[in-house]
Amino acid sequence: MCGIVGILGKKAVAARVLEALRRLEYRGYDSAGIATLEGGLLTRRRAQGKLRNLEIRLSNEPLDGLIGIGHTRWATHGKPNEINAHPHATAKLAVVHNGIIENFRELRAELQADGYIFSTETDTEIVAHLVTRELDRGMTPLKAVAASLPLLRGAFALAFLFQGEEDLLIGARKGSPLAVGIGDGEMYLGSDALALAPFTSLIAYLEEGDWVVLNREGATFYDKDNAPAERRAQRVAAGAFLVDKGNHRHFMAKEIYEQPEVVGHTLTQYIDMVTGGVRLPFDIDWKGLSGLSISACGTAYYAGLIAKYWFEHLARLSVEIDVASEFRYREAPLPANGLAVFISQSGETADTLACLRYALQQKQTVLSVVNVATSTIARESHAVAPTLAGPEIGVASTKGFTCQLTALACLAVAAARGRGELSMDDATRHVQSLIALPGLMAKALELEPQIEKLSRTLAKARHALYLGRGTSFPLAMEGALKLKEISYIHAEGYPAGELKHGPIALVDDDMPVIVVAPYDVLFEKTVSNMQEVAARGGRVILITDSKGAAECGLTPEAAIIMPEMDPLFAPIVYALAIQMIAYHTAAFMGLDVDRPRNLAKSVTVE
Ligand code: F6R
Repeated sequence: MCGIVGILGKKAVAARVLEALRRLEYRGYDSAGIATLEGGLLTRRRAQGKLRNLEIRLSNEPLDGLIGIGHTRWATHGKPNEINAHPHATAKLAVVHNGIIENFRELRAELQADGYIFSTETDTEIVAHLVTRELDRGMTPLKAVAASLPLLRGAFALAFLFQGEEDLLIGARKGSPLAVGIGDGEMYLGSDALALAPFTSLIAYLEEGDWVVLNREGATFYDKDNAPAERRAQRVAAGAFLVDKGNHRHFMAKEIYEQPEVVGHTLTQYIDMVTGGVRLPFDIDWKGLSGLSISACGTAYYAGLIAKYWFEHLARLSVEIDVASEFRYREAPLPANGLAVFISQSGETADTLACLRYALQQKQTVLSVVNVATSTIARESHAVAPTLAGPEIGVASTKGFTCQLTALACLAVAAARGRGELSMDDATRHVQSLIALPGLMAKALELEPQIEKLSRTLAKARHALYLGRGTSFPLAMEGALKLKEISYIHAEGYPAGELKHGPIALVDDDMPVIVVAPYDVLFEKTVSNMQEVAARGGRVILITDSKGAAECGLTPEAAIIMPEMDPLFAPIVYALAIQMIAYHTAAFMGLDVDRPRNLAKSVTVE
């Protein structure tokens, strides 16, 4: 969760880069660094630890450049030492980076074979050498960046500074935020508008896949296909900097878009990006467990239901799961040596907390998956599995949910390893699938224009049905919950196989039936149920991948084609489609998306 800054100034920039970094220190403080051009030559100062250490370094060895980039690091790949601190540099450029380059091992091997020598453990150094290779081939900085960006898989934001280029900064965004600030003969780049608040309130935001070329005259934006793009600057009101919606109409939209980044952050809590292994922030004797119980409410409960499939499938660990408001009065006997897991974004939900206290009385080991580290649920647990979604302001949970799933998927892989149910090779394969998630989420976000159009027809419906099998069943319930809570359209999530036992009576030519079906082992079964709907004149909307679309054997009213991925963890990416459907339906209806009627963000009453 690093912070990045760039300034193209009329006077020396180092002090102002530091000032902006101070405003980004909340994003990480494992190390910090700054690079400027001193007489056209790239010069860096970096320091391990908090920004204060960089400040001391700079007061002893000042920098005078009029152009510079800066970084405050939250370590993902490589130890939090000075060598791994950004900016990373070659003889031709320096770069700062926020995010994860998922294919860094392949690219590193390829660049090493081409003679490029690496001095750090970071994925960022790949980017530095990749662009340098294009410069070595005679390309201009613009062409070199344009040629390199498509080679990077993952979710990231980048800022580049080039040796000898006193009037050029280049920024890029894919899955991680980046803002451009426009000043008086000066230009700025920052991870958020808050970082740039002391210098300008005129802000333009890069959209997904954009990159931008800055000089003192202004900014030129390009989209993901390298076509020039217009990104209008807007004045950010002084008070809005703290709770900034970016260029989104609602917090919910912003939070949907943050998911590649925050899921990436959450992964770094559980995965050693260098070795590709799972590493939990606490010890659990998985082998000695007699059982696992999960309790949670609402969306968090659906995350738990999906995790049940993972724990049972991967770790062969049987899971008892219930909504917290039921579990707390059920007086369920819990086995000796049991692990009780509680999932909560806020960490304050009264029903979940009551279950946690019951589990403590029952002598369970209590593990909570929480987003707010200081919350009551976190404090009262034996161990905490953090989700790093950041503050979730929209009442309907989005990024909280996908971060919960991410943490739970990592726990399931760790449990499977701990119980001797998963070979090292299979664990590595699963970890690679998890590392791919932020990049896949960024791709899924590209479906937004299609989903927005589809939502206009959904907005006319009074009822909707979501269907799914396996892990797509809890996701179907989450899709229905999202739709009803913000658009007030009555929706149900059903296991596809149960349709014929009753709900099929509801099917008519009015009610949309949204089928969640990645091309997995259950696909054919789900498709049969979908055919049953189509045969009765039902309106089918299919969320699948390209294989699923090719094999489904009918032409649905609409098909949302998700990127190809490991079907095991597909709910983490498919969640974005169901969230966008709910969001755009409600937004089109002109409803108060962030504060739906009758609801509250943190439910501290029974
Ligand atoms: C739905 C939603 C709620 C919460 C539920 C639990 O979009 O946000 O269903 O998931 O109230 O809240 P936490 O996770 O804070 O315990």
